Amino acid sequence: MSEIGTSIIQFIVEEQRAHPNSTGSLTGLMSDIVSSCKKIAHLVNRSGIIGLGGAAESENVQGEVQKKLDIITNDVMVDHLNWTGHLAGMASEEIEEIIQIPDEFPKGKYLITFDPLDGSSNIDVNISVGTIFSILRCPEGVDNPTVEDFMQKGTEQVCAGFCVYGPTTMLILTTGNGVNGFTLDRDVGEFILTHPKMTIPEDTAEFAINMSNQRFWEQPVQRYIEECVQGVEGSRDKDFNMRWNASMVAEVYRILTRGGIFMYPIDSKIAKQGGKLRLMYEANPMSFIVEQAGGLSSTGHQRIMEVQPTGVHQRVPVILGSKNEELNLKAVPPVSLLLVGLQGS
Ligand code: AHG
Ligand code: MN
Ligand code: MN
Repeated sequence: MSEIGTSIIQFIVEEQRAHPNSTGSLTGLMSDIVSSCKKIAHLVNRSGIIGLGGAAESENVQGEVQKKLDIITNDVMVDHLNWTGHLAGMASEEIEEIIQIPDEFPKGKYLITFDPLDGSSNIDVNISVGTIFSILRCPEGVDNPTVEDFMQKGTEQVCAGFCVYGPTTMLILTTGNGVNGFTLDRDVGEFILTHPKMTIPEDTAEFAINMSNQRFWEQPVQRYIEECVQGVEGSRDKDFNMRWNASMVAEVYRILTRGGIFMYPIDSKIAKQGGKLRLMYEANPMSFIVEQAGGLSSTGHQRIMEVQPTGVHQRVPVILGSKNEELNLKAVPPVSLLLVGLQGS
């Protein structure tokens, strides 16, 4: 296992064999997700040719204008996952209510939440987009799960992952036993293990934040970014680099490979809604992956995976990435307040 060149299916079957009592249902579910991601990779890649670029004439539950591909990729996920008998229910960024499994299909023991197309504002400008998912156990004896059944902390996740459709298509997975990265070999239609046991470098001099929101940030964030920007002339004593893709999958992938800090903090513009990113299908799965790769993830006040969810589409502030950046920041009182939630994770 974990050998470069192993196919993702072999990898997950071998992981399953390490748990002798496993029924194979999680393996089946992961394999369904792999199929959806392959299909979405194909659609994203050909969207310009087959007329799938641009906006749809609708808004999603968050009041955001939907792209045609937001809707189509949501349907791809639902159609691949609803009939195989591994799920009891689903929740998607694009659908307000819980998605039930149709009566004609068997119900399974897992729940899934997903963002079918993350960073979808980037489709028409040909920048990386992705799919994010999080798998939870369905409470015992529940056949038709309600919102209540999904309200599990991130620490309860069984598996999380994301697929990034970039220069190459990559699927990043964790089941709580480290993080592994697979690259889609389009010639044979398989994801191949190319990045075993991914770990986030503990030190970094790179931050990612949407600077256009600067005037809305709270004071500790203002101060932290100001110190990064001052570089060797400021108290941090080193020059920082900045990146912002407006695509969380691309930012987290970059952090997994070369470290960094990613922030979508609370600001006065979005304070009422609690943040920008969604807890159940963006922040939690990404936090599980980041922590499993040796990084940290916080709202600024609390470890994200310990936030008690109150709604499927709930939003939270997100600060995640390289461990030692947080330790460096502790030397600066206002910023240590900001990152207090990272301690002891
Ligand atoms: P989505 O396309 O699923 O709505 O998610 C976009 C998210 C995230 O990927 C990204 O980090 C952030 O929104 C970008 O926000 P800004 O456009 O405010 O920079
Ligand atoms: Mn998203
Ligand atoms: Mn999305």
